Amino acid sequence: MNRQPQPAITWREDMIPQDVTLIERFASASGFFRPDEVLLAADFAAEHLSKGPESGYNFIFAQEGDQTLGYACYGHIPGTLHSWSLYWIIVNQSTRSRGLGSRLLAQVEQRVAAAGGERLYIETSSQPMYHPTRRFYQSRGYTLLTVLEDFYARGDGKVVYAKTMPDLAKG
Ligand SMILES: CC(C)(COP(=O)(O)OP(=O)(O)OC[C@H]1O[C@@H](n2cnc3c(N)ncnc32)[C@H](O)[C@@H]1OP(=O)(O)O)[C@@H](O)C(=O)NCCC(=O)NCCS
Repeated sequence: MNRQPQPAITWREDMIPQDVTLIERFASASGFFRPDEVLLAADFAAEHLSKGPESGYNFIFAQEGDQTLGYACYGHIPGTLHSWSLYWIIVNQSTRSRGLGSRLLAQVEQRVAAAGGERLYIETSSQPMYHPTRRFYQSRGYTLLTVLEDFYARGDGKVVYAKTMPDLAKG
C-alpha cells in the first residue's frame, strides 16, 4: 500500500473556549452526525470547559503546530468501577487514513489504563456509512459485543465494542 506520511503530532489535553466551536465544526464537517449529535458533541466540550475533569469527559486533541487535526472524548462510566467509554473520535477529513485515528485511540487507551480502567467500550452506528469506522475499531483489537437494532433510529442500530486489559495497556 502506498501510504502518505504521518503528520508530526503533539497531544493537547487542556481545553480552550474556542474548542467548543471547533468540535462542533469537526462533527458537522465529518458528514457522519445528525445536527442533534453535533450539538451533543459540543455540549460535552462545554461541560468539560465549565467543570473540568468533574464533568466526567476527558479530551485529547491531536495538534500539528497550531492546527487541530482530530480529537477524542472519553470518560469513566459512572456507576462502574473500571469501565470507560470512548464517546467521540473524529479525524479531520483531509487527514484520514494516515494513521492519526489509530494514534489518537492508542493515546486514549494508555490514559484509560493508567487511570485504572479495565474495559474501554465503544458504541457506533450499524449504518453502512459507518462500515470503515467499524472496521477501524475491529482492526484495533476491539471485540464486537452486541448490536442493538433500531437503537438510534429505525434501521440505525447501536454496535457495541470493547477492549479489555491487558490488551488495553498495550494500545
Ligand atoms: C474513524 C476515524 C476516527 C479513523 O481515523 P483515521 O485517521 O482515518 O484512522 P487510521 O488512519 O489510523 O486508520 C484508518 C485506515 O487507514 C489505514 N492507514 C493508512 N495509512 C496508515 C498509517 N500510516 N498508519 C496506520 N494506518 C494507516 C489503516 O490501515 C486503516 O485501515 P483499516 O481500518 O482498514 O485497518 C476517522 O475515519 C473518522 O473521523 N471518521 C468519521 C467520524 C467517525 O466515524 N467517528 C467515530 C464515530 S463512533
